[in-house]
Amino acid sequence: MTANSMDELVALCKRRGFIFQSSEIYGGLQGLYDYGPLGVELKNNLKQAWWRAMVYDRDDVEGLDAAVLTHPKVLKYSGHEDTFSDPLIDCRDCKSRWRADHVEASRCPGCGSNNLTEPRPFNLMFKTSVGPVDDGSSFAYLRPETAQQIFTNFKNVLDSTSRQLPFGIAQIGKAFRNEITPRNFVFRVREFEQMELEFFVEPGTDEAWHEKWVQIRMDWWSNQGVDENALELLHVPAGELAHYSKATVDLMYRFPHGLEELEGIANRTDFDLGSHTKNQSELNISATVLPNNESNAKLAVQNQQQKLWTVPYVIEPSAGVDRGVLALLNEAYRVEQLDGGRERTVLSFKPHLAPIKAAVIPLKRNHEGLVTHAKTIKADLQNLGLGRILLENSGNIGKSYRRHDEVGTPLCITVDFETLENASVTVRDRDTMEQQRIVIDDLAAYVSDYLE
Ligand code: GAP
Repeated sequence: MTANSMDELVALCKRRGFIFQSSEIYGGLQGLYDYGPLGVELKNNLKQAWWRAMVYDRDDVEGLDAAVLTHPKVLKYSGHEDTFSDPLIDCRDCKSRWRADHVEASRCPGCGSNNLTEPRPFNLMFKTSVGPVDDGSSFAYLRPETAQQIFTNFKNVLDSTSRQLPFGIAQIGKAFRNEITPRNFVFRVREFEQMELEFFVEPGTDEAWHEKWVQIRMDWWSNQGVDENALELLHVPAGELAHYSKATVDLMYRFPHGLEELEGIANRTDFDLGSHTKNQSELNISATVLPNNESNAKLAVQNQQQKLWTVPYVIEPSAGVDRGVLALLNEAYRVEQLDGGRERTVLSFKPHLAPIKAAVIPLKRNHEGLVTHAKTIKADLQNLGLGRILLENSGNIGKSYRRHDEVGTPLCITVDFETLENASVTVRDRDTMEQQRIVIDDLAAYVSDYLE
């Protein structure tokens, strides 16, 4: 079961501290959100799971964390200055602005007027001035994708790691797009995070690698608890491909507002390295790139035997962290009917994604003996390094269970008066609501097994 509507998720996110409207106390800024105490844990867990799968579990990927502010020439030669735009329509009556594909039947979605302008391209990149003089001469872009700095660092990574094809460079970080109509909660926002891998391969092997990566990424999302039936592959039609792409497969997820892109897996060919490399004319670049590149680096690999230079092709799985968080929340959300007409809301996250791994709850608030035991248990479990363990000194066990069900805490550990007699605790399972008695000496092993 998933959420019935986006409103249900938005309400839970605010009530329990996952996601808040940014600058809310001043009326909010459209298309910007802040992650609260639980949201930041969920987001970090998602990013960690991605990093583990893409970097640590593989032997052919390196990591990178590059600057957000980007030299204008990077985005000139990448093609973003010319092509990274959406068609914009103005309503002459109510002065609102819309993305052309969000306007139906030539009517303004705001006021219904048909007094609209023709669509014109609107570049989505944010600019900011660099240095103390703001005269427009020295500016940088806020990167619209994390990918470009992977390409510009290609030689640095290659030289410092002695990698050979095929290999990848992974990065997680913020990206910024001045979306004309941000909408659907964190689905389409102006500041978001991406988890991107640029996987460099020999030309000619690209199509096989592309297929392979589509499958790897489908499997990964399903390992995070996303129902396979909620995922669909969309082969992007040729006329809708991004300027750099030879083929793109979008991984579509059934969000509360409809089936939409969660991740895109593109075959970017040799377009990007070819665009940013010096000596373009001496290299056998197949993509149509902007000529006369001004960079000082040769972004190519040399074959060890024949000493020939190749500009690698790139397969790029690019996932949105915020869309991932939204999908995980939606997948985990369920409302269960209990005996006596009661109901409970549960977020049934996989344990590795749960914001709080276990809550340690003394049965009686501020009871010295119980709280002392609870503190020791919390500290011991925290030292296992499995994620956040929370000491909840609320004294209301029923209320604590309800709260932890609703935020997806897999285990609640209650310290009661029996603990003082025989050093055991009650452990309650979020999904089954079953409780069992476990001696404290066995607790660390039990919790590790459960969470891992
Ligand atoms: N480097 C390739 C690239 O950026 P994209 O399809 O434009 O491709 C990749 O973006 C992913 O980034 C998307 O699948 C989506 O998950 C996320 N994304 C893109 N624009 C977004 C936005 N405005 N708000 C939230 N996430 C976004």
